[in-house]
Amino acid sequence: MGPQRQMMDVVVRSTGRYVPERVFLNHEFESFLDTSDQWITERTGIKERHLAAPGESVSDMSLHAARQALERAGLGPEDIDLIVVATVTGDTVFPSTANWLQGKLGNTRGWSFDINAACSGFIYSLSTVTALLRSGQARRALLVGAEKMSAILDFTDRASCVLFGDAAAALVLEAVEPEQNGEGYGIGEFYLGSDGSLAEILYQPCGGSSSPPTFSSVQRHGHYVKMQGQDVYKNAVRRMDEVVDGVLKKQGVAPESVDWFIAHQANVRIIDSVRERMKLPAERFYVNIQRYGNTTSATIPLCLDELVCDGRLSAGQNLVLFTFGAGLTWGSAFLKWGVPAGLAPAPGDIAKRDISDNEEAAAGAPAAPVEVQR
Ligand code: UT7
Repeated sequence: MGPQRQMMDVVVRSTGRYVPERVFLNHEFESFLDTSDQWITERTGIKERHLAAPGESVSDMSLHAARQALERAGLGPEDIDLIVVATVTGDTVFPSTANWLQGKLGNTRGWSFDINAACSGFIYSLSTVTALLRSGQARRALLVGAEKMSAILDFTDRASCVLFGDAAAALVLEAVEPEQNGEGYGIGEFYLGSDGSLAEILYQPCGGSSSPPTFSSVQRHGHYVKMQGQDVYKNAVRRMDEVVDGVLKKQGVAPESVDWFIAHQANVRIIDSVRERMKLPAERFYVNIQRYGNTTSATIPLCLDELVCDGRLSAGQNLVLFTFGAGLTWGSAFLKWGVPAGLAPAPGDIAKRDISDNEEAAAGAPAAPVEVQR
């Protein structure tokens, strides 16, 4: 046994995001699928999503988001000693996307790995990174949620391909001595769970070692997302209630004291149902699914970054982040937004300063139909 270490507090220093330039509108599906903008909008809340360019990888997208987060924290790549990427659409089966990202960033002093927990990937990763920082195994971490879902979507399956999109979003997290954090900012309790007996209601059947790629696996679309939507929906609604309630009880906080509920963005009806059942006010829920669809590991950090850039997150606000996804997996986190004085610039101070170039480009992107390319 080594010397006992004091447990550290863990705060979010900055955020960043990247969305690919190509905006794919609902009506574009109408040219090759039996679907409609009306059906997608009414059943999911999604109006458009961004699709990565051919050759644009998850580590490329992560790099943009990571650089933005580092710049906003006033840090360079070598200030980071832990890199974690949450993804199910990594660049390669191995090494990890975090390894590829580390190389592209030019970071030489950190250690890096991926976490695969599907739509719960970001919350699971936040829990893992927090534990490593709290226990002193790292000081500053880069956490990225990033997906190129378009690489594993079956564009002949209207029940799944209309739901997802591509994006990356990053956080820089830092361990601080509790005595330097008098305001009690940072990451609080987590509430996590999974049920592996329901793995087959949402998964990518082929490509792993249990079913390596063959001509037949490609022909039968085995490398794409397979989903039993209604079963996933029913489980999602139940678990989302549970994780919100569970983390608030663990933290000892009443729902009225929460400033922002930030849900995984899979279907606006799932979010509305949690909100209505728990009788929580709509204005405290952040929803951006209409612009991005379900970006799996990226949805929650994407919401966080938008709130930061809009100036709507301020120091001292209480947040509940919560999710549900394939696995099945679910989880939630409580955090008090803000960084102690001395760790400048604080995320709340960067309001509207540097919305990404990509987003501006996407806003002006032509809506002309193009072929779906991988
Ligand atoms: O991040 C976690 C992962 N995913 C989720 O959380 C997704 C959870 N599930 C859902 O969000 C919903 O179940 C879906 C959006 C996937 C589907 O919505 P739904 O209201 O549950 O529709 P449904 O599956 O009950 O299908 C209703 C009808 C069916 O036609 P029939 O059998 O009534 O004639 C479907 O074939 O809608 C049809 N349908 C579509 N129609 C037009 C399914 N997809 C489409 C489509 N366009 N894209």
